[in-house]
Amino acid sequence: MVTRIVTIEQQHIDTAAIREAGEIIRAGGLVAFPTETVYGLGGDALNPESSKKIYEAKGRPSDNPLIVHIARIEALPAIVREVPETAKKLAEAFWPGPLTMILPKAEAVPKETTGGLDTVAVRMPSHPAALAFIEAAGGYVAAPSANRSGRPSPTLARYVAEDLDGRVEMILDGGDVELGLESTIVDLAVEPPVILRPGFVTEQMLRETLGTVETDETLFRSDSGQAPKAPGMKYRHYAPKGELTIVRGEAAAVTDYINGQLARGHKENKKTGVIATDETIGRYESQVLRSVGKRNDEREVAQRLYRILREFDDEGVELIYSESFDGAGISQAVMNRLLKAAGHRIKEV
Ligand code: TXA
Ligand code: MG
Repeated sequence: MVTRIVTIEQQHIDTAAIREAGEIIRAGGLVAFPTETVYGLGGDALNPESSKKIYEAKGRPSDNPLIVHIARIEALPAIVREVPETAKKLAEAFWPGPLTMILPKAEAVPKETTGGLDTVAVRMPSHPAALAFIEAAGGYVAAPSANRSGRPSPTLARYVAEDLDGRVEMILDGGDVELGLESTIVDLAVEPPVILRPGFVTEQMLRETLGTVETDETLFRSDSGQAPKAPGMKYRHYAPKGELTIVRGEAAAVTDYINGQLARGHKENKKTGVIATDETIGRYESQVLRSVGKRNDEREVAQRLYRILREFDDEGVELIYSESFDGAGISQAVMNRLLKAAGHRIKEV
């Protein structure tokens, strides 16, 4: 299969290209497309054969359910058993946007799309090209992140092409994504609602809309002894090729510890890398050094993280140290992804 890459400008969306992308989906094919979070690998959510193709292209186990993307709130009732009050409130507050809701599924959604579950994950993204594409595709696009299983979610079309060239009919290139981390997932099929994956819509924001909201305990701990509730969380997630350690503590102690480890690594002829911030990047003696931005700019940190992890892989870095990002808001999402990438290896100094 030859993959066509078509550039889409946010300001002037190429309607011919969107129409063509939509036709590919309706015919049972696959199209990767930009969203405000990360790129998605799209297929017709109501066609079981399309979902099978998605799993195959991604190299993902087929019991790991897909998110169904819609472009209008009116599209929701057809794919869920009922639309509870909680879902109406959240849609009003956060859609279109980086929030995925889990709801009991309707007959129309094949088990292939939900990995055999009786619930379905639904999201209405805010990216204008994504919305136009979903409409053109018939209104229901199943899409995981557009990476091969085991790689960071792609934030640029170039990374989608690296992972999926020859495996999808088309890639819509919308440039760099706005947010850079996957959507918040909230399970509304249980009472009270539970956050299964932290993201830009934070626990506090959800509480303001819903009242009581819990966070799945397994998200930040490796030793909670419970099975994670989002099936995707049980799989070994992205792990960089190098050994990643997160270092947490007072700033000067963190720099000292990391520099000590780097010196040891260099003695062993290891290629080293550091994930630092604008404030600290000048303090490290490392071969590959990347800043995620200003420490107090959570959005920037989130936006850059996956790209930096890919760059470390491309450069063949063997030992990676990252500063820790602790905070209540978007930092929760950053830390959740970093902890997974580090296999929960965290050093307190
Ligand atoms: O921002 C995003 O959500 C991106 C863009 C493309 O929209 N998509 C994305 O999809 O991150 P994916 O497949 O990489 O992650 C979906 C997660 C998985 O961990 C999966 O297990 C969980 O959602 N999930 C999907 N359906 C579920 C369900 N019915 N119950 C529990 N978890 C579910
Ligand atoms: Mg993913």
